[in-house]
Amino acid sequence: MEYVAALKSADLGDGSMLAADVGGEHVLLTRLGAEVYAVGGYCTHEKTDLGRGFMVEDRVVCPLHLSQFDLKTGAVQNPPATEPLRRFNVKIEGGTIFVEV
Ligand code: FES
Repeated sequence: MEYVAALKSADLGDGSMLAADVGGEHVLLTRLGAEVYAVGGYCTHEKTDLGRGFMVEDRVVCPLHLSQFDLKTGAVQNPPATEPLRRFNVKIEGGTIFVEV
């Protein structure tokens, strides 16, 4: 596991999310207040790209069958998905967001 640069911190506004491919992983990055979070970027139901989904408060809604996942923890909130998203460690250094992959 190592920290890999994902995005410029300035490109991720408060209350927004962006998908990025980081070290072979597709991740979904979110800034909520002072914190940045990263979870797996594919829905655990049928591998839909959650970067094409939409945010409701601190959750992402899958665009295909509307399962929701907590963007801080990856926890699944409703079916049809039953498995949580993987959660990744994040750090910000020198204006860049790094994800541990
Ligand atoms: S692919 Fe996401 S809920 Fe079905």
